[in-house]
Amino acid sequence: MARTYIADLHQHVGKEVQLHGWLYNKRSSGKIRFLLLRDGTGVVQCVVVKANVPEQVFAVTDTLTQESAFSVRGTVRADSRAPGGFELDVTDIPKVYQVAAEYPITPKEHGVEFLADRRHLWLRSARQHAVLRVRHRIIKAIRDFFDGRGFTLVDSPILTPAACEGTSTLFETDYFDLGKAFLTQSGQLYAEAGAMAMGKVYCFGPTFRAEKSKTRRHLTEFWMVEPEVAFNDLNDDMELAEEFLEYIVQSVLKDCAGELSVLERNTALLQNVKKPLPRISYDEAVEILHRKGQPFEWGNDLGGTDETVISEQFDRPVMVHRYPAEVKAFYMKRDPQNPKVALAVDVLAPEGYGEIIGGSQREDDLDVLLARLKEHNLPQEAFEWYLDLRRFGSVPHSGFGLGVERTVGWICGLDHVRETIPFPRMIYRITP
Ligand code: 4AD
Ligand code: MG
Repeated sequence: MARTYIADLHQHVGKEVQLHGWLYNKRSSGKIRFLLLRDGTGVVQCVVVKANVPEQVFAVTDTLTQESAFSVRGTVRADSRAPGGFELDVTDIPKVYQVAAEYPITPKEHGVEFLADRRHLWLRSARQHAVLRVRHRIIKAIRDFFDGRGFTLVDSPILTPAACEGTSTLFETDYFDLGKAFLTQSGQLYAEAGAMAMGKVYCFGPTFRAEKSKTRRHLTEFWMVEPEVAFNDLNDDMELAEEFLEYIVQSVLKDCAGELSVLERNTALLQNVKKPLPRISYDEAVEILHRKGQPFEWGNDLGGTDETVISEQFDRPVMVHRYPAEVKAFYMKRDPQNPKVALAVDVLAPEGYGEIIGGSQREDDLDVLLARLKEHNLPQEAFEWYLDLRRFGSVPHSGFGLGVERTVGWICGLDHVRETIPFPRMIYRITP
């Protein structure tokens, strides 16, 4: 008999089907066994009535432990009280693949470290399914957005010869006879080469930061999507960012209502994520901080608490632009109106989720860029190829990077980014 998935049971009401999966939970009551079966697409209650099945089939139900794997045959019955709307009246259990050893994760509450140590098993729980599905939907929205707007995906390398986002967070490794290589912090510099070749491009992949930060927003390995567009200035960059965020959030709201409800996410604020998003300058952000009694000195970078205080003033993500150049990366163009500030933008998510997007217009003048490399103590030789982009047809261009995990955490309403990626990497965790 062909395999059916729980998510497709609505097509088979009144018919006999065969499901394959794992035992999520079990209840017994006299001559009836209620087996909760999960198969990755959903959970269904399978009802085994002693009088309706051969004796050995009924006996098998008593051997099944949590997470035992088996196949089950039965008739699909619509039942509005059942989670998912269907139950299975069992006629047979044709195969037990394995009776599972005592499963460490039970329906009772477990501590986060206990669960994190068993992440490979924790992924089987309903909440984690919901997060992974939202993550998948976000990634699809990211691709659809750029693919639908004429962008070309240009993959950037992971092993790189130089830093992109400062030298303090580099993971390094020996690279044969060529010296040191670094795990990429960002594909941006390569995306810039792509933009000069193809006009509108994006790169999308894992990025690495040896962050000493032990916060709920920091991973050492995270996924970032980075669009880069030739001839875009900072204003164009912000327009692209707000349209992009609206597209992602509205796609998830449309397609993941079930997942967001499993996560008990209040979606009222997410509904607001529509362009235009509010735009404030760094100077205005500092005024907000002072008005709210937050001690802050002009010239510093915004910290997590500062970002929260600022974002609390808005009912949707806010774009903060024109940061002091001193706290930003070497490649950012200074504002011709005020060279103290960079043509940078950070997008801060509401509800304390902090910076989800960082972007800028890039310095396109060769001599200025050479001076910046010196100021930042970066080795010019390693950047010669990048400098070529300013020697051969240099034009204004802009881009940004969106962190997938922070976006998933915000949209799902999670406390910590560790639940936004299947196997998180943090300063104190590299297993499983
Ligand atoms: O602001 P960042 O460092 O920007 C760049 O890397 C630029 N090169 C992007 C560009 O213009 N093409 O990082 C961008 C985003 C942040 O806003 C945040 O969402 C995420 O990447 N991010 C992290 N996410 C999780 N853990 C970390 N340690 C992160 N560091 C940055
Ligand atoms: Mg940033």
